[in-house]
Amino acid sequence: MFAGRILIAGVVAVLALVGAGGLTVGAENGVQFMDPLTKEPLEIELPRDASEEVETFFQTGENPFHGDRQAIADGQQLYNRWCASCHMRDGSGRMGPSLIDDTWKYERAATPVGQFEVIYAGATGAMQPFKDRLSLEEILKVIAYTDHLREQHQTQ
Ligand code: HEC
Repeated sequence: MFAGRILIAGVVAVLALVGAGGLTVGAENGVQFMDPLTKEPLEIELPRDASEEVETFFQTGENPFHGDRQAIADGQQLYNRWCASCHMRDGSGRMGPSLIDDTWKYERAATPVGQFEVIYAGATGAMQPFKDRLSLEEILKVIAYTDHLREQHQTQ
């Protein structure tokens, strides 16, 4: 009887371990990116030398650079160079839509993953893909900066 209990406990423990393992594998697969225009799955390979932040983003969809002062400063330089001509320095938009209000043309762009998809893969017309011009990490820093602009704008 006692031995039986131990056996059952053992089986439960093994099942729990398998369960946890399954979850970890799921987390490694992480975010499924989607092409903003075709809505097809967008396969973005995680580079072997990806930083911890990029890896976390791929797993969780959260931007680890959010609120990070240094990343925001780096993102500002990148934004002013690559994005401000259409979205304006303050993000209020001109040729490209505002990035600091709460309305998004692409529904998914309300999240860091959706913004990442538009920046990486492009959208229509003037919104060209940046995948060959910005690294994955740089895109995350730009998003940290536009988040910062939006937060500043909304607390004004
Ligand atoms: C040459 C002009 C141009 C440049 C440069 C540009 N964009 Fe855009 N962007 C646009 C246009 C136009 C759209 C709207 C595209 C559409 O409607 O399909 C857009 C859309 C977006 C969206 C989606 C907004 C929404 O409401 O869903 C995001 C996010 C975005 N751009 C971020 C950026 C970032 C970040 C950069 C710099 C890395 C950048 N863009 C550079 C013109 C530009």
